[in-house]
Amino acid sequence: MTTVRPVVLIVDDKRNMVRLMSKVLRDDAITLTAYTGAEAIEQLSVQAVDVVLSDLKMPDMTGLDVLQACKRMRPTARFVLMTAYASVDTAVEALRLGVHDYLTKPFDPERAREVILRAVGRAPVTPGESHEVLPGIIGRSPAMIELGELVRRVANSTATALIMGETGTGKERIARAIHHLSPRRSRRFVAVNCAAIPAELLESELFGHARGAFTGAAGNRAGLFEDAHQGTLFLDEIGEMRPALQAKLTRALEERAVRRVGDTRERPVDARIVAATHRDLEAMVATEAFRQDLWYRLNVAVIRVPPVRDRREDIELLAAAFLEEISATLPDRSIVGFTPDALDALVSYDWPGNVRQLRAALERACIVARGDRLDIGDLPPELRAIEHPTIGAVDTNLTWAEATARGRQVIGRQYLEGILDRFAGNVVDAANHAGVERESFYRLMRRFDVDPSRFRE
Ligand SMILES: Nc1ncnc2c1ncn2[C@@H]1O[C@H](COP(=O)(O)OP(=O)(O)OP(=O)(O)O)[C@@H](O)[C@H]1O
Ligand SMILES: [Mg+2]
Repeated sequence: MTTVRPVVLIVDDKRNMVRLMSKVLRDDAITLTAYTGAEAIEQLSVQAVDVVLSDLKMPDMTGLDVLQACKRMRPTARFVLMTAYASVDTAVEALRLGVHDYLTKPFDPERAREVILRAVGRAPVTPGESHEVLPGIIGRSPAMIELGELVRRVANSTATALIMGETGTGKERIARAIHHLSPRRSRRFVAVNCAAIPAELLESELFGHARGAFTGAAGNRAGLFEDAHQGTLFLDEIGEMRPALQAKLTRALEERAVRRVGDTRERPVDARIVAATHRDLEAMVATEAFRQDLWYRLNVAVIRVPPVRDRREDIELLAAAFLEEISATLPDRSIVGFTPDALDALVSYDWPGNVRQLRAALERACIVARGDRLDIGDLPPELRAIEHPTIGAVDTNLTWAEATARGRQVIGRQYLEGILDRFAGNVVDAANHAGVERESFYRLMRRFDVDPSRFRE
């Protein structure tokens, strides 16, 4: 993959620090260096940069002075501040002034690299480190790591497994992973979608039929259960199965034998059952839409796949992996990453259709994208429409990245509305005042969903 490397300006009066950070970023970025605030400003005036990594305390000026200059000259650059001591006040003040992130010295260089790559919208991919929690299942959130361990334990047994989770969370992939990690991997994995087969046909599909069992039943036929003998039978969308068939399935699981439709004989069969559903089977049992005895048979090993919005740490990795795949199929160009705005939008969106929706969104975005990085404007409109939160209590359930992203969103919107109000909706004056180029100002208004005409008399 060809990559356009981001430009990072490293500013510190300690030469050792500048050298260290240049070395750490050698493979990921083009690095520029400055040993004083004045030198940094000089560099900014001649050269576009993606990230400024600056020390707070320097002899000639502070990092915050560099920040002010940077905001005027290079408004799209992200600013990462290095501070020598952990001071909550400085941190809050820095974020208020528009610092993207900050590092408290002394820091682990590898962690600094991560922060900087994140600031330019790149997932820090550590060479040699796999981001799969299971074969074909990408993730790094604690929830997915735990799920990976559970699946490995389940795969080793012959216990019936039930995979529950919203649409598009990867249930089928997990079912396949169970088979491939199990001692049955060399036998068949037979998948049947209980929702896709008409109810009246599903019974003979699963259990087979005897000759003449019904009109059209020409010969004797084995069903999918028997096909999966010594292998794995995946019963997808099991919540859609009719109660009569649920009863027959329960019996087959209890007896470890099947009876073909129209036949009197029971045939022993050894198929390992993995079932999946997006429905809440417990609730269905309560309303008697799902048989309790079947529920007991299935819930031996229950694997709950969390929705994407509950594991936002995975979004960047998934998006990067999908982008690489999709980009490889583009005939005439390659898209190598995301702009910070696009990445923010991907991470903040709630993804009701989960991983499947994420992939589809990126496929569409790649078709419309013109640059070599996906930008927020390339993403589907539902990702650009932001909820309009107000500053209130900070939600401590969020990660640092999520909370500060939300903070930027709140402040960004209030600020834009404030100055547009002040200049009666005149975008040129407002942009001038904000010290942002007009084009960027339009982009900001779109991003924060602010309509200037609302402020005109
Ligand atoms: N963790 C993951 N890593 C990589 N790809 C994933 C992951 N989770 C899901 N996918 C991809 O997302 C898509 C949806 O996955 P899958 O079909 O397994 O979901 P599902 O839970 O069975 O959805 P549904 O309930 O709608 O049937 C597939 O293209 C799958 O390859
Ligand atoms: Mg599925």
